[in-house]
Amino acid sequence: MNNHKPIDTSRIPGFYKMSTAGRLQELSRAAGCSPEDIQALTGGDEKGLSLEVADRMVENVVGVFGLPMGVGVNLRIDGRDCLVPMVVEEPSVVAGLSHGAKLLRGGEGITTETTEPLMIGQIQVMDVSDFRRAQEEIHKATPALLAAANELDPALLAVGGGAEDIETRVLEPTDADDPLGTMLVVHLLVDVRDAMGANAINTMVEKLAPRVEEITGGRVRLRILSNLADRRLVTARGLVPFELLGRGNPLLGREVAAGIEEASVLAERDPYRAATHNKGIMNWVDAFLVATGQDWRAVEAGAHAFAARLGRYTALSRWRVTEEGLRGEITMPMAVGTVGGVLKTHPAVQAAVHTVLKVRSAAQLGRIAAACGLTQNLAALRALATEGIQRGHMGLHARNVAAAAGAQGEEIDRLARVLSEMGVYDAAAASAALSRLRQQRRQPAA
Ligand code: MEV
Repeated sequence: MNNHKPIDTSRIPGFYKMSTAGRLQELSRAAGCSPEDIQALTGGDEKGLSLEVADRMVENVVGVFGLPMGVGVNLRIDGRDCLVPMVVEEPSVVAGLSHGAKLLRGGEGITTETTEPLMIGQIQVMDVSDFRRAQEEIHKATPALLAAANELDPALLAVGGGAEDIETRVLEPTDADDPLGTMLVVHLLVDVRDAMGANAINTMVEKLAPRVEEITGGRVRLRILSNLADRRLVTARGLVPFELLGRGNPLLGREVAAGIEEASVLAERDPYRAATHNKGIMNWVDAFLVATGQDWRAVEAGAHAFAARLGRYTALSRWRVTEEGLRGEITMPMAVGTVGGVLKTHPAVQAAVHTVLKVRSAAQLGRIAAACGLTQNLAALRALATEGIQRGHMGLHARNVAAAAGAQGEEIDRLARVLSEMGVYDAAAASAALSRLRQQRRQPAA
């Protein structure tokens, strides 16, 4: 475990065609996995996570639940090649990422930037009689409040983090149906460094609440982290040259780029499309977050709230045709951590983060997550703007249908090919085609 030797290249031609054993061999070679890493990633005897460890993680445990872990290839982020583990049940997500990554690495590779890891804790204050005065008093008491918060987490201070600022907001009733009067919300801004931050923040806001009541003369109700982590943002950018988009034909590439721009603008203008556009982005972000033991619900919530920050739900990414090629950019909140949580206990997560990704900070993890979102989005929009999503999607889905129809071993790929050629994917057709395949094998052509 903990092999920090960088990956030479994430280009592994034909990775998708290899057997699982072949892929593991390639992964071990490229990432320098130990036999224990491989056992942790594949499940080994203990299924990656033992019942005993699972029982300490959540309540009422009766088992552990398996999902496929795939590895996305071809990604190049900030000049570094990465092999990216992902846990997801949906076919075509891993393939989409690898394809999008191949297109993006042909340009300048993906570049990213992040803000400082500032998270927000909220304290809701009711029954304030003079809002202006309450805000002024909070402002005056800010140094004392920050000092009190920081006393609670000397370890965070020692690594350069800690409570940094306090802001206040006055919230008016939203409409005639709103039963309450004006209320005050105090925001505590904390640099959480490599933590996701929920524990540090929740401890701090709970501790500050009585002081806030004294200062404002109000009554505190909620004291909790906000998942709209809009002070902890990651931006990822990429460029795809036209020749690559047009598979060697720049003119065709320009057409494909124009199609992707049209698809992007629809999502920027229309919440109905933006929801699906962003879902595609989160396909990969979530798969990556699950594989790396993150609270993906927190990042999901933050992403969608951020997408609606202007009062209208819109796309998290945008794509534009430029002189040099198709340029894409995504900005999203990224509340992830590399200290504490599941990373401490889950063997597969440890192998994924330390050995395969070789990530050492939350910022690095967040940069990769946003890059994955951009890459997945490119793959989806390229397919949607050209042949449509169903061809690739159903081709991959065919293997599930074949297995569900009872195909075994190599029959699965053969039956999947037959179904894809017929363009039919229902259970009855799969079962009939399987019988035909088996009959042909029993009666080879003379
Ligand atoms: C399907 O899981 C995701 C897509 O719908 C995303 C999109 O439409 O952009 C293909």
